[in-house]
Amino acid sequence: MSSYEARFKVWRGDVQGGGLEDFKVEVNDGEVVLDIIHRLQATQAPDLAVRWNCKAGKCGSCSAEINGRPRLMCMTRMSVFTREETITVTPLRAFPVVRDLVTDVGFNYTKAREVPSFVPPEGLAPGEYRMMQEDVDRSQEFRKCIECFLCQDTCHVVRDHEENKPAFAGPRFLMRVAELDMHPLDAASETGLDRKKTAQDEHGLGYCNITKCCTEVCPEGIKITDNALIPLKERAVDRKYDPLVWLGSKIRRRSS
Ligand code: SF4
Ligand code: SF4
Ligand code: FES
Repeated sequence: MSSYEARFKVWRGDVQGGGLEDFKVEVNDGEVVLDIIHRLQATQAPDLAVRWNCKAGKCGSCSAEINGRPRLMCMTRMSVFTREETITVTPLRAFPVVRDLVTDVGFNYTKAREVPSFVPPEGLAPGEYRMMQEDVDRSQEFRKCIECFLCQDTCHVVRDHEENKPAFAGPRFLMRVAELDMHPLDAASETGLDRKKTAQDEHGLGYCNITKCCTEVCPEGIKITDNALIPLKERAVDRKYDPLVWLGSKIRRRSS
C-alpha cells in the first residue's frame, strides 16, 4: 500500500466569516476526499464541522465544493487528483454556512413543501394502479434522487443571486413538478390544480435557460434537463399557446 502527503485548503469559519486553512494530510490507496477530511478531524482539526452519514453516495449529506466543483466528498476518489495538486474543499456556495463545511440547506425543504403531492385517482385503490412501462421508468429515474442538492447549488439562477430564491424552486423541485405533471395517474387537474401553470407562476420554470449544469453535477446521473426540465417547458408552452386550452380556460373562468 502506498501513501503520500497531500496539500489541502479547507474552508473554516461560520456565518460571521472565515477563510481557507492549509493542511498537509496523509493519503492512502483507495481513499476518497471524505476519508481525508476524517483524518484531518482525527489528527489536526478535531472541531472541523462536516456533515456525512452513509459514505456510500446514498444519503446525500456530504455535499461540498471540491476545487470549486459541487461534488459528494464520499464519492470523490483522491486518485482523480495529481499528488502535486492542492485540493480545495469549501462549503456549498448557494446556501448559508453554519460552520466550516456544513451549510443550512433549509431552502430546499421549503421548496419541497411548496410542491403539492401526488393526487390519487378516484375509484382506484393502491395496488390497482396500472401504468405503461415508459411512465414507470421516467418516475424511477427521477426517484433515484438522493437529495444531495448539488444541482441546486450549481444552478446559476440562485448560485450568486440570493434575490431569485423566493421565485425559483431549482432543478430538483422543478423535476418533481415535471414528474407529477407527466404522471399518468396524477389527478391534480381534476381538483383544479394546473401543475404546468404553477411550474411557471410559482416555481420559476421561466428562469431556467437549460444550461444543463445541474445535470452535469448530479451524482445519480439523472438527466434533469433533458428528461424533466425541457419536457416541462414544452408542456407549459403547449398549454399557454394551445387555442383549445386557452378557450377552455376562458369559458371556465366566465362560468365560475
Ligand atoms: S438547466 Fe436550468 S435548472 Fe439546470 S442549472 Fe441550468 S438554469 Fe439551472
Ligand atoms: S437531482 Fe441529482 S444533483 Fe439534484 S438533488 Fe437529486 S441526486 Fe442531487
Ligand atoms: S456520506 Fe452519504 S452521500 Fe456521502
